Amino acid sequence: MSARAAFLVTGATGRLGGAVVAALTGRGDRVMLVGRNRDRLDELVKEHGDAAAAFAGDATEAGTTAAAAAECVARHGRLDGLVHLVGGFHIGPVRTTSPRDYEDILRTNFLSAVTSAQAVLPHLGAGGRMVFFVPQMAVEPPAAFAAYAASKAALLAWTRSFAHEAKHADIHVNTVLMTMADTPDQRRARPAADFGLAVAPGDVAKVVAFLASDGADGLYGGVVPVLAKFEYTSGLAGGPPGGRPPGNRP
Ligand SMILES: NC(=O)c1ccc[n+]([C@@H]2O[C@H](COP(=O)([O-])OP(=O)(O)OC[C@H]3O[C@@H](n4cnc5c(N)ncnc54)[C@H](OP(=O)(O)O)[C@@H]3O)[C@@H](O)[C@H]2O)c1
Repeated sequence: MSARAAFLVTGATGRLGGAVVAALTGRGDRVMLVGRNRDRLDELVKEHGDAAAAFAGDATEAGTTAAAAAECVARHGRLDGLVHLVGGFHIGPVRTTSPRDYEDILRTNFLSAVTSAQAVLPHLGAGGRMVFFVPQMAVEPPAAFAAYAASKAALLAWTRSFAHEAKHADIHVNTVLMTMADTPDQRRARPAADFGLAVAPGDVAKVVAFLASDGADGLYGGVVPVLAKFEYTSGLAGGPPGGRPPGNRP
């Protein structure tokens, strides 16, 4: 890959966007940021100077992502990959989750990945990179997260299939599997959670930078767990012999 590669970063305006963009520009790469929040896009561009440019729009619209990819080539002279951070969340039991809710979450979490990948693909040569994100719930879905987990499970299956296609063009499609990141809004929303177990956005960003580098030349269709110290706990387990109660810390 070029020493100064250029990436389309879709969903850059969210919680992980700042750290991911900093990791890429910090090593000399250029980015074209896509999102709907113009104020946040402007902030990011200001922060990263010439290395960053932005394209405001809805990433589920094929016209938007295609135009953003073309803009990346016009602005930076090249396009080497995609980091797809677009995501949405839904919680609620099946009983009260409407078909419209399902359409919305599938559109945000699944269709946006399709439109973004299809926009970038025509510009990529051998060595191109795409990075997607799914939560642990995509493989181990708990109650009340059916719509969210299903949308992310669809994304995961799609990335794995797509990776088998893309590898024959020497394009690397990999997925980060993660749990809740340690971000200020999550700390506010979950005051009782132990954030010492959560992953830091900067640590996710380091893995993204790796997946978007020659270091990951051997990875096609990888599902890379970036789970920090996450573990399942269960009252049924009863803790280890010796009576330690189930919990996170010895
Ligand atoms: N952070 C975590 O704890 C965590 C854990 C597991 C998995 N993940 C996944 O990792 C990815 C990145 O996480 P994150 O925490 O940065 O997510 P986030 O804070 O929810 O950010 C996602 C961004 O996508 C944007 N977006 C949503 N729909 C869009 C659309 N149609 N077009 C353009 N932009 C759109 C949102 O912006 P607006 O809505 O303001 O436009 C938001 O800024 C997501 O896919 C997430 O599901 C995150």
